[in-house]
Order: sequence, then structure tokens, then C-alpha cells
Amino acid sequence: MVMCFMAQTPSLKAAHALQGRNDVLDLYGAWADTYDTGFAMDQGYQIPREVALAYQEIGGQGPVLDVGAGTGLVAEEMVKLDIGPVDGVDLSPDMLRVAEAKAVYRRLIEADVTKALPGAPTYTGIVSSGTFTLGHVGPEGITALLDGAAPDTQFVISVNARHYESAGFAALLDDLKGQITDLTFKDIKIYDDRCDPEYRDEVARLLIFRSV
Ligand SMILES: C[S@@+](CC[C@H](N)C(=O)[O-])C[C@H]1O[C@@H](n2cnc3c(N)ncnc32)[C@H](O)[C@@H]1O
Repeated sequence: MVMCFMAQTPSLKAAHALQGRNDVLDLYGAWADTYDTGFAMDQGYQIPREVALAYQEIGGQGPVLDVGAGTGLVAEEMVKLDIGPVDGVDLSPDMLRVAEAKAVYRRLIEADVTKALPGAPTYTGIVSSGTFTLGHVGPEGITALLDGAAPDTQFVISVNARHYESAGFAALLDDLKGQITDLTFKDIKIYDDRCDPEYRDEVARLLIFRSV
């Protein structure tokens, strides 16, 4: 019997239903070239700018690691705010190829952020936009990043609010008491009014804290 696996058509619904590494590689392989225009611009995707602004508001400086960098939307915002250098890490080589063409990163790393990042330098800040969401990275990603972070590293991590509830981020933050400090939250709208009605009111919670 011949079995045929087809890449899913890129959509938010498909993204939220991903299950594991191969799904991520398939979906973002198919989405990379149209992600910025066909998704981010069309839907009024706001997290990259909100994350960069939140990082600026707390006095964040480079070097910064952008976790789940995708096509580089966060680094583009960081450049506008004169914050850098920015390194990016992502599982998808296709998304990283689009990011690399923008020349906004010092270094791009193809890796799974739920595992230790071998040989990664230490960073003043670690930021993430849209990666801690349904079907993507859960609380274990924050634990892995903290394990590799120097003391006093400033974090700004967006977590989809529905994922925050269902994947147990509140429990993780409780467990991390003693390892993090200055924890604050900022809830933001993920999309503006251009977004399809089904997702227009989706919220992301920015987790803002420092490692101890
Ligand atoms: C919704 S996109 C967000 C991209 C970019 N940060 C933005 O806001 O436009 C999610 C990204 O997370 C990446 N990703 C998913 N799981 C990952 C993992 N375990 N390790 C590293 N990257 C991952 C995907 O490849 C994809 O580029």
C-alpha cells in the first residue's frame, strides 16, 4: 500500500493543530514564502511589535535571542527600535531562509527550543513572539531557556491566552519561584481589525521576567 502525506494548507487552524516536529516542518515549509504578506499583513498580526516594545519599555538591550524567530518579524521591529544584535532560533529551515534574506539577525540557529541550545552564547535578553501557542511550544520551552540563561537575563515571552490556560503555564510560573524575579504580565490583542472574525479577539499574554 502506498501512503501519501501532503503538507497541510497553511492556516491558523492548521497551525493550532500541529503535533510535533514533522508537522511543524511541513506546515512552515509550505507557509514560509507567504507568511509575511498572506498572514501577518492580511490579519494585522501585532505580537512581534508588542514584544519588541515591551522589551524596549523595560530598558532591554542586545544581545537578544529571538525564540521561534520564523521569518524575522521580531528582529525587524527590534531594528526599528535600535536594539541589537539579535540572534534567532527556529526549527524550520524554510522560515529561517526568509529571515536570513532580511539581514536583520547576527546569527540564525536551526534548533528545537525545547532542548538545550548547544554552544549558544549568553544573552542580555530572550524574547519570543507567537511560538508559545496552541500546537507549538509548551511550558517546557521556558524551562529549557531558563536552564541555559545567565543570571539577570530579561525575558519577554508571548503565550497565546488559550494555550496559557490549557498547557499549564500558571503552574509552571509557580514552580519557577526562586528562579525568576520581577514577573509581570501584559495582555495584548494578537490581531487588529483586519483579522478574520473567528480570531479577531484572540489574546496573547506577555510574560515579562528576569532570571535569578
Ligand atoms: C507562528 S510562528 C511565529 C514566528 C515569529 N516569531 C512571528 O511572530 O512571526 C511560530 C514559529 O515557531 C517555530 N517553532 C515551532 N516549534 C518550535 C520548536 N520546538 N523549536 C523551535 N522553533 C519552533 C515554527 O517553525 C515557526 O517559525
